[in-house]
Amino acid sequence: MTAAIKGSVGAPNARILSVGAYRPERVVPNAEIVDRINSSDEWIRERSGIIERRWAAADETVVDLAVNAAAIALERSGIAPDQIGMVMVGTVTHPYQTPSAAAEIADRLGAVNAAAVDLSAACAGFCYGLALANDMIKGGSARYVVVIGVEKLTDWVNPDDRGTSFIFADGAGAVVVGPSEEPGIGPVVWGADGSQKNAITMTQSLIDYRDNGGPIFPTLEMQGQQVFRWAVGEMSKAAQRALDAADVSSDDLDAFIPHQANMRITDAMVRALKLPAHVPVARDIAYTGNTSAASVPLAMDHMLETGEAPHGGTALLIGFGAGLVYAAQVVTLP
Ligand code: UT7
Repeated sequence: MTAAIKGSVGAPNARILSVGAYRPERVVPNAEIVDRINSSDEWIRERSGIIERRWAAADETVVDLAVNAAAIALERSGIAPDQIGMVMVGTVTHPYQTPSAAAEIADRLGAVNAAAVDLSAACAGFCYGLALANDMIKGGSARYVVVIGVEKLTDWVNPDDRGTSFIFADGAGAVVVGPSEEPGIGPVVWGADGSQKNAITMTQSLIDYRDNGGPIFPTLEMQGQQVFRWAVGEMSKAAQRALDAADVSSDDLDAFIPHQANMRITDAMVRALKLPAHVPVARDIAYTGNTSAASVPLAMDHMLETGEAPHGGTALLIGFGAGLVYAAQVVTLP
């Protein structure tokens, strides 16, 4: 006879309890990078909306950035580190194949009872993590989850590449997700299109670099226009599907927080969604650049800190990037 297995029992729902952010100290204005890529402050502002970005110090690691952001989120949540059941880290810039950044981050946070895992979902990493955290808490495999988006993209970008060097930057954002009576995280709308894997990729693999060398260490390369077209065409549809799945009208939103890929992509999505003018839109990219997995929690923290979006308000999130992958959901802000 097959033994009866006792199933896990989770909370009725989950929500974001708190958010924390870490922006590296060094501010890098466009003027500092334009000569190297034969560009101009004007071009970068007009084509991307970026005015300046933050770069981490040489000795500041992905783990350092993440710990700084997550410590703030933990403090704000009032949840003790030893109550955390899972630390999930969206990142594509941790420079070790193994062990994970998450295991080290959990240790540094004092999350001694937590499982830990890195998620490779590029600029959608944070929204993927949020969806998984929601299901873990409802499924009973963790009661409190720390979800982090962190990148030190300056380690993986070629400063001479005109297509990427002005856009990508460094930073970390984190949330603590915990149980709640009411749904605080709506159904996720997500997907992947690996047929477009070359749209954002590395110039070569680390193994190819080891075996064949090459002019430069592997760095990010992006077919900017291809990604731009996909984002504008497909991501507003995904965002609308997330609203529909949560049964929330765009009129009822208190914030729209898309991945900070490019200000023009954000503008196009706002138009395609016919977002009412009263809904505040995250435009953190102007001063933070594109921080991939970190961009959504960084922008969320900024909107709450400046009062642009209300605590407890309803926000539409969407992350999208290399893969190509995406994830969107409606959440209650912490
Ligand atoms: O976060 C992950 C997802 N990533 C994204 O969503 C990024 C999506 N893509 C983009 O944001 C945009 O494609 C970029 C901002 C990266 C580039 O903007 P673009 O409007 O697509 O530029 P383009 O590549 O079409 O180039 C337009 C012109 C070209 O000149 P011509 O051929 O029109 O004379 C380029 O040579 O701009 C020139 N150009 C530059 N000029 C000054 C390209 N890069 C630069 C530069 N500075 N850095």
